[in-house]
Amino acid sequence: MQTAFYVIAAALLFAAASATATAGAAPRVEANFDEGWRFHLGDAADAWQTLYDDRTWRRVNLPHDYSIEDLPPVGGPAEPSLTVVPGVWRFHRGDDPAWKNPALNDADWKEVHLPAHWSDHGDQATHSFAWYRRHIQVPRAMVGKPVLLLVGKIDDADETYVNGVRVGGLGSFPPAYSSAWEVPRRYLVPANILRGDGRDVIAIRVYNGDGEGGIYEAAHPPIRSGPFDLDAEGGTAQGYTVGGIAWYRKSFTLPASLRGRVVELAFDGVYMDARIWLNGQPIARHPYGYSPFRVNLTPYLHFGRERNVVAVRVDTSGRTSRWYSGSGIYRHVKLIVTDRVHVAPDGIFVTTPEVNRNAATVHVRARIRNTMPAACNVTIHAQIRSGDGATVGEAVRGVQIPADGEQETEERIILRHPHLWSPAHPALYSLTVRVKEGDTTRDEVSLHFGVRSIHVDAVHGFVLNGEPLKLRGGCIHHDNGCLGSCAYDRAEERRIQLLKAAGFNAIRTSHNPPSQAFLDACDREGMLVMDEAFDCWAHGKNPQDYGRFFNEWWKQDLSAMILRDRNHPSVVLWSIGNEIPEQSSAEGAERAGTLAAFVRALDPTRPVTQAAYPVDDTSKLDALFQHLDVCGYNYMPGFYVRDHERAPQRIIVGTESFPQACFEAVTQAQDHPWVIGDFVWTAMDYLGEAGIGKVVPQNPPNGWVEKPYTVSNCGDLDLCGFRRPASYYREIVWGLGHKVACFVEAPGPDGKPQKVQGWGWPDERPSWTWPGMEGNSLTVHVYSSCPRVRLLLNGRDLGSKPTTRKERFTAEWQVPYEPGRLTAVGTTEEGQELCRWELRTAGKPSRIRLIADRSHIRADGQDLAYVTVEVTDDGGEVDPNARHLIHFTVAGPGAIAGVGNADPQSMESFQQHKRRVFRGRCLVVVRAGTRPGQIILRASAAGLKGAEILIHTDAAR
Ligand code: GAL
Repeated sequence: MQTAFYVIAAALLFAAASATATAGAAPRVEANFDEGWRFHLGDAADAWQTLYDDRTWRRVNLPHDYSIEDLPPVGGPAEPSLTVVPGVWRFHRGDDPAWKNPALNDADWKEVHLPAHWSDHGDQATHSFAWYRRHIQVPRAMVGKPVLLLVGKIDDADETYVNGVRVGGLGSFPPAYSSAWEVPRRYLVPANILRGDGRDVIAIRVYNGDGEGGIYEAAHPPIRSGPFDLDAEGGTAQGYTVGGIAWYRKSFTLPASLRGRVVELAFDGVYMDARIWLNGQPIARHPYGYSPFRVNLTPYLHFGRERNVVAVRVDTSGRTSRWYSGSGIYRHVKLIVTDRVHVAPDGIFVTTPEVNRNAATVHVRARIRNTMPAACNVTIHAQIRSGDGATVGEAVRGVQIPADGEQETEERIILRHPHLWSPAHPALYSLTVRVKEGDTTRDEVSLHFGVRSIHVDAVHGFVLNGEPLKLRGGCIHHDNGCLGSCAYDRAEERRIQLLKAAGFNAIRTSHNPPSQAFLDACDREGMLVMDEAFDCWAHGKNPQDYGRFFNEWWKQDLSAMILRDRNHPSVVLWSIGNEIPEQSSAEGAERAGTLAAFVRALDPTRPVTQAAYPVDDTSKLDALFQHLDVCGYNYMPGFYVRDHERAPQRIIVGTESFPQACFEAVTQAQDHPWVIGDFVWTAMDYLGEAGIGKVVPQNPPNGWVEKPYTVSNCGDLDLCGFRRPASYYREIVWGLGHKVACFVEAPGPDGKPQKVQGWGWPDERPSWTWPGMEGNSLTVHVYSSCPRVRLLLNGRDLGSKPTTRKERFTAEWQVPYEPGRLTAVGTTEEGQELCRWELRTAGKPSRIRLIADRSHIRADGQDLAYVTVEVTDDGGEVDPNARHLIHFTVAGPGAIAGVGNADPQSMESFQQHKRRVFRGRCLVVVRAGTRPGQIILRASAAGLKGAEILIHTDAAR
């Protein structure tokens, strides 16, 4: 066995760091550990060993998500598939492990024809077991190869054997029963199990819970495209993407001068069930895919020329999530080197207990760790600097740290005339804590914080810096659209900027802790955050989700979130869970009490909430809610007033609301001080929960087949970050200035208005380009926060209508289509223009336009430029009906990180250098290399004039 080895930039950094350390300065090094990993998809025996030969593994840099990568093509020679369901089987009620034996005589078993439900052959029973058996004909060519067995859909749980060997199973049997009735089974039969002599036997053990049972649908051959597989185990929940086991390895050296220091790796998030080895030693396991964790490398490290190998195994097999989780080391990893006397991990806690315009008290707690066998005396220097770098406060204190122990110090520093942090003015300060022993600096840690006060009560609601403020909130998942779950700093920042520009001032990180980069961006941009820990506790929602680990791990995961995030001024609420299955039981209420108390012990400064799923009688939630400072109501604005009458001290937040219920949810929050805000589901589209907001024809025409959805289709912003009509409406209902927006409802394939499902919004478009509809009446919706709106078609006045709160800020017209200009003008009561919105008919599409969000990015290998690609006519008008396939090339120091088009039904690759435009647009994300220079992105398409754009990469500071 041999190990690949390559020098990493971090090693150079350490050389520099060690030089300064010996000189007694800057002893802490926090180095990016993202570059130069080797990656292998699939399990690999022995890959934890130092000398494992990983030279054939792919090189990757972090953040990395293997679920967003293209799947291998279907039907390659390595993976022939065999359909086994249709035909005659033997069936027997009951359960006996011996029935898997290929030699069993099953002649007296009942003969059944599959696919069929149990009721089809007169065997319907609930909560019972049965077995199926048959011989399978295996083509000779498949013998000796792994074969994909297409077993189809089984109601509810199964375990499948071939020639007596278990090849797979989905769902689970009692006592931990769970159904996987909707998932097609495709099991890989390892090579050398099938004989091909006509005597191969398949035996399937099935359990039916409630309702129908049986092998009721044959599987079709795999349908795969891009990262999507319509038979993926995660199904619609994970947007048909595929997980599984994978490995990462990285070799590195550390200079001998670092011997004797403490060396750790900080993982900001690995999805999921990470196991970590260093130099062949198992050093950590971390099941939860969203909580940060640290691993101490010190005991097993080599220094000098001898290399170290860190190996990480990730396992996302099965149904681990209700939404697209992504897979792999999808957030940053840092290597942290400290002196043996240092600030403990997450050991600083800054709060601002007294805040007013004249002065603020900054309370700094610092936990210092001493890993040496003798006590030591140190001085702790705390220094606060304002945004312009000026020192505005300082404190020094001497303290003794016990041998092999920790000591916490506390300082109160007064700031005069502080700049207060708020969404409108997100002023940040920096705090540096230095640990000195004599003249030697042992450690130095800097972080940013904000001076702000928060308070909640039922009379004033949520109060920031003494002023009541409503949370104009949105829920979001963690994925970055076409980048999958990769948490690039810029991708996280861009989301916050887009959401802020759309009028949100608060985000709920449903249903898990976000990345560090995400919260840093929220601090800088002024976005309030409800930081949420879990989507389930002890009772999981999916067979392989976090529910498996909760009892053993919740304390560690919850404290990881609180300790990492409690210095962020943006974080104003902790949420301990979302729609917890046990919410209404005594067990659930008690657990909520335990979790809430645990959170308050780590951070007494922020209110604790939890999102409850809808119930018909909210008094059932009283036992749970008594433990919360703010009670989270999902989809229950109708209860706000009634519950206030019953429980006047209760503080309510709409933790989720339907997009179409915007008016009710927002006005309820506006009208009632005890309702502190509303969070729509969702602020931004995400992969997975595919089609929860779909729009379908009233009467599907004959032969109409719905294309599968891969995206939720419920976001105010779509998967690319483009604003949708719901976003404009929400901004108007929240009353953010004088606005008007005008959309045309797209008729369905049957020519009628379409039905909106669940979390959807009508299929309205900012389009006045409806070729073929000339003379037909189109439904036009105008939303406005102005008292009235006037609609004009090609300059002709179509009348003025009120758009006050009484009209739900909405006016509607039926307008016979004629090409040209449709103009909505927001006016005063008297008709004076306040704002306008115009839709123009696009001419023949003739060219591509490229618009980059930034023309200069950093040459740090991570920074991103988002380039919007538009198909326009000669005059620059976007053709909203264009569907051209655009090809891209990149020259210079950069690469394409992803392409997307926000079509919720697209199964295209996110990684190939081409993309079809959707509604006339798509998106290319360009990632900087590490060399300063110029990136040229070129776009071309048949029948269109191509375009190119220049992006400069500037030397990273
Ligand atoms: C809610 C749940 C969310 C999401 C949403 C849409 O009940 O809390 O996570 O699943 O439904 O399906």
